[in-house]
Amino acid sequence: MKLWGGRFTKETDQLVHNFNASISFDQKFYKQDITGSIAHVKMLCKQGILSSDECSTIVKGLEDILTDIENGTLVIDSEHEDIHSFVEAHLIERIGDVGKKLHTGRSRNDQVALDMKLYTRDEMKELDTLLKNLLSELFIIMEKNTETFMPGFTHLQKAQPISLAHHIGAYFEMFKRDRSRLFDIKNRLNYCPLGSGALAGTTYPLDREFTASLLNFEGPTYNSMDSVSDRDYLIELLSAMSTIMMHLSRFCEEIIIWNSNEYQFVELDDAYSTGSSIMPQKKNPDIAELVRGKTGRVYGALMSLLTTMKGLPLAYNKDMQEDKELTFDAIDTVKGCLALFTGMVSTMRFNKTIMESSAKNGFTNATDAADYLVNHGVPFRDAHGIVGQLVLFCIEKNISLDEMTLDEYKAISSVFESDIYEAISLKTCVEKRNTIGAPGTESMKQVLDWCRTYLNQ
Ligand code: ARG
Repeated sequence: MKLWGGRFTKETDQLVHNFNASISFDQKFYKQDITGSIAHVKMLCKQGILSSDECSTIVKGLEDILTDIENGTLVIDSEHEDIHSFVEAHLIERIGDVGKKLHTGRSRNDQVALDMKLYTRDEMKELDTLLKNLLSELFIIMEKNTETFMPGFTHLQKAQPISLAHHIGAYFEMFKRDRSRLFDIKNRLNYCPLGSGALAGTTYPLDREFTASLLNFEGPTYNSMDSVSDRDYLIELLSAMSTIMMHLSRFCEEIIIWNSNEYQFVELDDAYSTGSSIMPQKKNPDIAELVRGKTGRVYGALMSLLTTMKGLPLAYNKDMQEDKELTFDAIDTVKGCLALFTGMVSTMRFNKTIMESSAKNGFTNATDAADYLVNHGVPFRDAHGIVGQLVLFCIEKNISLDEMTLDEYKAISSVFESDIYEAISLKTCVEKRNTIGAPGTESMKQVLDWCRTYLNQ
């Protein structure tokens, strides 16, 4: 069963075998392992290291193994140490001695480095698609809600009125950056380690550029020791995924708050909510909470791998096998969270009336009242003080700025005229804010155009 039994006189202890084996998890990249082997064999043939007969027999054998695994005829068992041993053993069993030439000029060290890169590259494509789907759903909400007013918060205290489109637009930017982070990582990782051997290359005349191009890499890696011991790209990916989760988690936190009885800004669809076993009235935002909760798990994976790598001497060390389970788990977690979160937001209903009336109280138009004074020649600092007095007056009378009479305004500052009401109306407060990136009608229209172009490219 073993690839390396030759120099051993004793069987491996069963517990040692179990502890050492990785097949229970590295079977996840059986497809990438076989794809990599096929490219390697084709290169060996091109270089005259294998004959074309040998090459076609091996390639055919590998393709059959792939088909059989995919259709369930060949089941990956735990007798083998890892997926590499499993595939090689089955190849030899099926095509005989010629199968023993597959591993010529290769080590499991460059093989596993390749498999992991191929696997993460494929998964990153899926992550990107999921992010793009989420962005499309957010864009739909934005387009429909440029005139849905709501309070914007700082310190979770009502600050200034904004629109729902503007609030959602903030997340649009975050997830857009998340996509571009994945893109950057892909560009950096996209160099092929195959042909680096165990650590010092090989004496066979391998054409590494050819293998790299067969596998859609930019080219081969430049240092064989680095090739077999580089896990930077996984650390970068875990960091980018942690950032995605951080963004999802912040959004979930807001949805949980908005969905609470006190706010009632949104209502989650029944399909995305859960109940209580004891309290019949409950409809809980469990999905949002779980996404927020799973963020910790992805951060943990990042910390684990950084810690695993920090003391490793060059080149390959078995510690690196630990990169797999945690990366796989993090990828699956992020993919699951993105898919569920997208479903949850796209089915969520916004209570526009409640949002709007919430924006109307809490003095979210106080800045605009101060700006009114500034526009009438009052220095901003004085205006700030005057509006402070207005707010105090309103708090005492339990009214809003809009509900003060003009006489009451004038008693505090003679500058106020009847156009103050128009100046501090919710609509004006939002629609007049037209600097780039602000919630105003004009600037939002511009940003929506940019978002549309971005999604269409
Ligand atoms: N399962 C191993 C890993 O994931 C494959 C490489 C094994 N190489 C070795 N020299 N033992 O890292």
